[in-house]
Amino acid sequence: MEPYEEFSREYNNYQTIFTRLYNSFLRKVQVKHEINFERTLDLACGTGLLISKIRSKAEKVVGLDYSPEMLKLAIESYSHFPNVEFIQGDFRKFSLPDKFSLIISSFDSFNYIDHIDELDSIFSCVASHLDKDGHFIFDVVSENYYMKINGTSISTENSGFQNKITYNSDLRKMTSVFSFRNGTEEHHQIPIEHTDVLKSAKNNGLDIVGSFSSFNLDPLVESSERLFYIMKHK
Ligand SMILES: C[S@@+](CC[C@H](N)C(=O)[O-])C[C@H]1O[C@@H](n2cnc3c(N)ncnc32)[C@H](O)[C@@H]1O
Repeated sequence: MEPYEEFSREYNNYQTIFTRLYNSFLRKVQVKHEINFERTLDLACGTGLLISKIRSKAEKVVGLDYSPEMLKLAIESYSHFPNVEFIQGDFRKFSLPDKFSLIISSFDSFNYIDHIDELDSIFSCVASHLDKDGHFIFDVVSENYYMKINGTSISTENSGFQNKITYNSDLRKMTSVFSFRNGTEEHHQIPIEHTDVLKSAKNNGLDIVGSFSSFNLDPLVESSERLFYIMKHK
């Protein structure tokens, strides 16, 4: 099965708390960085959980995701709002008719790339869709995080699936295998480090105006596991 083909059904049960924390993070940075939600693009919007929190602040929100199953759930839940639109697409190569005041991507979605060079393609697409004064906000996870979760398993009685995570530090690749009654789903991610982000930002004329290691805006340190960024055009 493709990633999220089956896990999409379980997704909202696991992400609601994270989305609430993300929303409080956005509220904190909104004032400090004068974030304008007017036209927001949510890259890898998944089931639309974050859109449910930010749509009331925006004139228009576009959610883009690769997975038909995740998008189907997003469309069922939120497409009846006149200011919300969903598009199936790849964040490494998208071309939309509009520019956005805010481009956002939550919950380490950019770690779903095959090679670190692809971060440049994402940033290049973002740069060409961002208003002159617009903001780009996202989080990624570093190798510290994968080292910590390497070897962990989750087994859920109620929903009947198991999840096993392994990290291969030689290949720099995380594999998360979901076993359901009707088959398995493999998710692959790669770590993204602060130096990777710096390089791709520079290559694409983006400036880092905020970087944090937590929802509470703690600063980035060597041991950070989740890295949050706010960028603007240079
Ligand atoms: C961990 S989920 C995050 C979903 C959502 N941002 C949230 O916070 O709940 C990762 C999402 O990334 C999407 N995704 C992975 N690779 C993608 C790509 N190349 N282009 C667009 N979406 C992608 C998956 O389909 C999935 O919905």
